[in-house]
Amino acid sequence: MIKHLKVVANQAQKAKIFLEDCNALNDGFLPIKEDGFVFWPLNFEVEGEIIEREGLSSSRVSRDYRLKLPLNLRNIAPRAFDIFGSIAILKLNSEIIEFSDIISKSLLDSNPNIDRVALDMGVKGEFRIRELDMIQGESNFVGIHKENGLKIKVDISKVYFSPRLAMERKRIVDVAIKGEDILDAFAGASPFSVGLARKGCTLTSVDSNPEAEKWSHENFALNGIKRSEYRFITSKIEDVISDLGIYDRIIMNNPTNPIPYLEGLSSLLKLNGFIHLYKIVEKDEEFEVENYLSSDFKCVSKRVVHPYSPQSSMMAFDITRAVSNVRNTNQ
Ligand SMILES: C[S@@+](CC[C@H](N)C(=O)[O-])C[C@H]1O[C@@H](n2cnc3c(N)ncnc32)[C@H](O)[C@@H]1O
Repeated sequence: MIKHLKVVANQAQKAKIFLEDCNALNDGFLPIKEDGFVFWPLNFEVEGEIIEREGLSSSRVSRDYRLKLPLNLRNIAPRAFDIFGSIAILKLNSEIIEFSDIISKSLLDSNPNIDRVALDMGVKGEFRIRELDMIQGESNFVGIHKENGLKIKVDISKVYFSPRLAMERKRIVDVAIKGEDILDAFAGASPFSVGLARKGCTLTSVDSNPEAEKWSHENFALNGIKRSEYRFITSKIEDVISDLGIYDRIIMNNPTNPIPYLEGLSSLLKLNGFIHLYKIVEKDEEFEVENYLSSDFKCVSKRVVHPYSPQSSMMAFDITRAVSNVRNTNQ
């Protein structure tokens, strides 16, 4: 079974461009057209309606790397993997880790866009850094990833980056309005910030990882944004709240631990502004973000961005300030 993104037919070309842009389109299979919908075959899960169904094999040589594996491994090796630039990021469970060499070699041989394969041992610590072991190709974790018409360059062993957020980042850029003052509170290599700055918003980007600053400057420059057009602060966000201004939009992309920062950051939101908060929510948890906010705030939408584990999902909460009670009144 192959994961497909289901889109209405008149959105199909737009979806295709997006999927190609972030390397999510599985070109070993054909799109399926059915009842006014198009089902795009995926390399990895993206945001949207995902349907698992039998793939329609392309007449071209299939890119499913598992076809090069011996039969006993074909059905236990993972079909899906993330791609960052030309680095494939592979997660192998304990059942198949001993076959990492043969699995990674066949992945490399099957996909001309991949020149390195890294084993993903999970994201850890305050900086959310991915523990990686390069098992094929040069031991260099720097890649350039293309998404939404942007280039994001980063050393993925030193700064967090997830290609799975491409559609969410596009959604935020789409809803933002040119000229807005935006705080990206957990910016990482600045993939949200760069897209928003390119739209004409004024960005203040903050991250506590010093490597995030280095790659953020690189990414603003790579996408044509001058140093004078944004501000990057290397600090824990809680240590700079009193030095910041007030904002039309605040992005809180620290999904494993956002709540301790919510009260402080919500005090920086202008009337009618928006906070976009991300949080990992257990499937059986009844999480209401409004329980952590004063009555000035309303959660106007919540949605699943992508599955995080079999028991949890990453969710996005859009929160607005409906009553004026802003700390600093010079808006
Ligand atoms: C999940 S990553 C998100 C990165 C980025 N927004 C993206 O979309 O790729 C969370 C980031 O928050 C940073 N971080 C964690 N705690 C922080 C804090 N207290 N203050 C500022 N940044 C923090 C980490 O270094 C990490 O880069």
